[in-house]
Amino acid sequence: MHILKKIKTKQYTLAQGDCLDYINSIPDKSIDLILTDPPYNIAQYSTGNINLPGRSALNNDLGEWDLSPIDPFEFVHHFKRILKPNGNIFVFTSYNLIGKWHEAFDKEFDTFQFFVWHKTNPAPKIFKNGFLNSCEMIVCMWNKGHKWNFGKQNEMHNFFESPICMRPERLSDPKHPAQKPVKLLEHILKIASGEQDVVFDPFMGVGSTGVAALKNNRRFIGIEIEPVFFDAAKKRIGGYDNG
Ligand SMILES: C[S@@+](CC[C@H](N)C(=O)[O-])C[C@H]1O[C@@H](n2cnc3c(N)ncnc32)[C@H](O)[C@@H]1O
Repeated sequence: MHILKKIKTKQYTLAQGDCLDYINSIPDKSIDLILTDPPYNIAQYSTGNINLPGRSALNNDLGEWDLSPIDPFEFVHHFKRILKPNGNIFVFTSYNLIGKWHEAFDKEFDTFQFFVWHKTNPAPKIFKNGFLNSCEMIVCMWNKGHKWNFGKQNEMHNFFESPICMRPERLSDPKHPAQKPVKLLEHILKIASGEQDVVFDPFMGVGSTGVAALKNNRRFIGIEIEPVFFDAAKKRIGGYDNG
């Protein structure tokens, strides 16, 4: 698929299409931080609707976009090529894919660690037959000499706690089942990048990483394949552009 729409301002570039097509046009060593949330491919584990009292039913059928398999080996050489030598990578992932991210990226970077987002309001399990899905994993990689903005030891925990996105932050039209809280993304990008740095999100959804980047004076490049999510991201991110 080719890039269908592209918008460029001083602070951001947004493109609608397949990130693997777009990524070839990004110059070598030009990105300070890759902060992205690719599909987890969990729709394949769906067991249908789980009915919850007083809440809408839940299931893992996130959408068509979650079905095409994500192969970290397809991304590792692109990410290495475009990342500055002092850059950082943070990728949201799930239990079924974390091993693949490790296998593809660990040997290519000096350090591979993980960060946990603890959701304080996960969906309940009314039959008490397993743990709540209250944590999401974010794998992170960097090389020696990378940029890091820690102040004190207690800011260095690989853990962040916040509720999942609720209204008014959560969009209702379009509704994106995987919209991430801007607070969490801001926490990561403040640690791992500086002002005017370029943040890249090849799977931007409704643009939460872009909002976090612009709110914190970073530049942003985002790609999204689905036209409705792309249009929502364009609107949200455009609202933060004061350049
Ligand atoms: C987990 S969601 C990201 C949600 C985002 N963090 C947010 O807060 O809105 C992953 C997104 O990647 C998009 N996507 C899937 N395959 C893609 C591809 N090859 N290129 C660009 N975007 C893609 C999907 O349409 C989906 O919106």
